[in-house]
Amino acid sequence: MKKILVIHGPNLNLLGEREPGVYGSDTFDSINDEILAIAVEKGLHCEIFQSNHEGEIIDQLHLARKSFDGVILNAGAYTHYSYAIRDAIAAIKIPVIEVHLSNIHARDEFRHTSVIAPVCVGQIAGFGKRSYFLAVEAMKEMLEDAK
Ligand code: DQA
Repeated sequence: MKKILVIHGPNLNLLGEREPGVYGSDTFDSINDEILAIAVEKGLHCEIFQSNHEGEIIDQLHLARKSFDGVILNAGAYTHYSYAIRDAIAAIKIPVIEVHLSNIHARDEFRHTSVIAPVCVGQIAGFGKRSYFLAVEAMKEMLEDAK
């Protein structure tokens, strides 16, 4: 069974109460429950990690390279400026899919840049919690193709 890791970055633990007009009113826990249910349906082993700290996200990416087949990453605001997270993604061989709930390209100017995009296999943004679900589906199909 293929194993995937979902990493949520800073402030995403507050989903549900954080700017619901932008990020929706579903809670962090309920979104995670849905992600897990979809992964099970797709025959994937899925684990979820959240951190508000850059170094912890980097540590998880390093650990994932040995024990997971792919990573779905919402790096939150680190997306826009963390060269350290970008380098960590570039350093590992497993595919990383970049995810955002909001359409970062339609928001503040500083959100239009993703420094991690060039080292991710693709980006899914703007579909709310469905961005994660689409990423699980894409990862499943990609891992199947790689067989
Ligand atoms: C986000 C978009 C980022 O710009 C923001 O800093 C976040 C969430 C999203 O999921 O839409 O924290 O990654």
